[in-house]
Amino acid sequence: MKKFVDLDVRGKTVVIRQDLNVPMKNGTITNDKRIRAALPTVKMALEKGAGVILISHLGRPVEGEYAEEFSLKPVAEHLGKALGMTVSVAKDLASCHVKPGQCQLLENIRFFKGEKKNDPALAKQLADLGDVYVMDAFGTAHRAQASTEGAVRQAKIACAGPLMVNEVEAFGRVLNDPKRPLAAIIGGAKVSTKLGVLNNLLEKVDILIVGGGIANTFLAAMGYSVGTSLYEPDLIEEAKKIMQKAKDKGCQLPLPVDVVTAKELAQGQKGTEVDVAHVPADAMILDIGSQTEALYAKVLKEAQTVVWNGPMGAFETEPFHKGTVALARDLANSQAFVVVGGGDSVACVEKYDLADKMGYISTGGGASLELLEGKQLPAIAALEDRS
Ligand code: 3PG
Repeated sequence: MKKFVDLDVRGKTVVIRQDLNVPMKNGTITNDKRIRAALPTVKMALEKGAGVILISHLGRPVEGEYAEEFSLKPVAEHLGKALGMTVSVAKDLASCHVKPGQCQLLENIRFFKGEKKNDPALAKQLADLGDVYVMDAFGTAHRAQASTEGAVRQAKIACAGPLMVNEVEAFGRVLNDPKRPLAAIIGGAKVSTKLGVLNNLLEKVDILIVGGGIANTFLAAMGYSVGTSLYEPDLIEEAKKIMQKAKDKGCQLPLPVDVVTAKELAQGQKGTEVDVAHVPADAMILDIGSQTEALYAKVLKEAQTVVWNGPMGAFETEPFHKGTVALARDLANSQAFVVVGGGDSVACVEKYDLADKMGYISTGGGASLELLEGKQLPAIAALEDRS
């Protein structure tokens, strides 16, 4: 990929597609991680002497309709404070004008007709807003839309921003020629949503750990009763196939030996630790137990590269966060290069101040999962074609 860092853009207008899709409540940003991750690219462009037009989406508004709740105005204000300058919001393409040293944010690109269906006319207009089009929105790289893929193909000069480069390199270190043993830890509610990821990773990893509802389906596949736990009976055959494939490949797939159960999932409920063979019929599995924590720590001790996406249990509801936090601490203290992606895993390392000890924290949710699934992301494919 052509890299923005290598370009001379003094006096030019640089258009940067970023993923500033941050969570908001009543117009207030509740987590600014994506804005913080985007800032170095904006600063780099300003320091290089360019004028900067930023493009992002926010949420999923009805295309073609302005809706205040999806406006990027709070994001512009937040960016302005972080940069120490005014970041104005351009409500339409005709209002996009910057001089060198200025920064402007185009209103939510999903208000513009043609974004979602990757309309070539809109893509061309976006590309023509400046001299260089920088694709830095890794979190949206799995969407073939006008601002993510179309504009990259049509811009006079298109390149990857530093955030995009970092993301691609981090996942490259995991998926292409990793230092071994390579471990993948995949948690979450359902096998069905991560089946492609599990099957693709099985081809590459030496250790596979599954967590959350996914692990429950595997336990059910082993013949254990999982009480009222979240699990997918329809996916039991798939889970059996995955276990067999892991065995054939010599891939370790350790499963929980003990779990924390409760009658219902609610904050402050008391959890009871039981052997996996003794899950009560009227209780649900909500976390891994302490023996399982120790087992996973032992297995992961050998790993040189780890990718982690998804919690071990109901992380967001205390006290069922403990297994996920224990795993996060083990990974933070390990010598391995650890890539963390996905909402709950990233929230966990941030909440417990472990982010600095990880190898890389991804800004991509769906995008990182599609990479782990072995898919080619349309925006990255476009950047590669334009190199
Ligand atoms: C995300 O939050 O995963 C990205 O910003 C992509 O958003 P989308 O799923 O609405 O395309």
